[in-house]
Amino acid sequence: MKPLYTKGNAAKQWIFEELHEQFGDREGSVLDLCCGCGEIWQGFLEAHPRLTYHGIDFDRSAIVKAKKIFERFGKRVTFSFEDAQKTGQERADVVTAFSAIEHVYDREAFLKTVHTSLVSGGKAYLNYDVGHFRSHNLKERLMVPVSQFLAFIGIQGPYMKRVDDERFQRQAEQVGFKVIELRKHNMGALKGFMRGASDEAVQVWYDFEQQMGKLYTPKELDPLFLSTTIVLEKL
Ligand SMILES: C[S@@+](CC[C@H](N)C(=O)[O-])C[C@H]1O[C@@H](n2cnc3c(N)ncnc32)[C@H](O)[C@@H]1O
Repeated sequence: MKPLYTKGNAAKQWIFEELHEQFGDREGSVLDLCCGCGEIWQGFLEAHPRLTYHGIDFDRSAIVKAKKIFERFGKRVTFSFEDAQKTGQERADVVTAFSAIEHVYDREAFLKTVHTSLVSGGKAYLNYDVGHFRSHNLKERLMVPVSQFLAFIGIQGPYMKRVDDERFQRQAEQVGFKVIELRKHNMGALKGFMRGASDEAVQVWYDFEQQMGKLYTPKELDPLFLSTTIVLEKL
């Protein structure tokens, strides 16, 4: 069985498996934009001791929490409180963003950061979800237009807007990326069902989603799946 780095999210597990393929036991650097408190990286970074990781988020409390959680990793795991739409001095082999793009207000500026942050030939794994926009919870649905108004008047913290796959791909190409692939993960019904499941059951779920990704196009899978990952390469 492959190592499980997260039990609750097939999209993130797939990205971790890709990073494992790329880095194995070798040295490398990851820049994680919109990292939150980065919690989900713990198992992966433990299993890959030669990787350095830097996380960026503009939520100060998340960064404070992240620094506490990862204290034991020393200097190879660092965090900074920054706006991912404006930064870009880091040079990384890989850029990631988990459950993030739907929360980014200026996606073009964000893509420019991803581009300037990557080494030539480097890959970005940018992930976004639709849960907020399909929720049956009225309060959550109402927060969508409210958050967009708040962002318009300069408060970006709670921002959420559905990401249009095709538009986002075009924006990435305009910034100078080659789009390698776009994948759908986290089938709605299964994501909840798998909460608390055994490792074996979770692995079956992940394998099933990989198979579905081979049989159907992202557009066909879109109505059933909650999470999208776009893989980009800096030319
Ligand atoms: C849903 S959370 C995802 C957190 C984490 N990546 C995870 O998967 O658990 C989205 C994060 O994006 C951050 N964010 C949104 N726009 C940002 C920006 N322009 N710069 C930095 N962080 C941003 C928010 O502060 C929030 O922590």
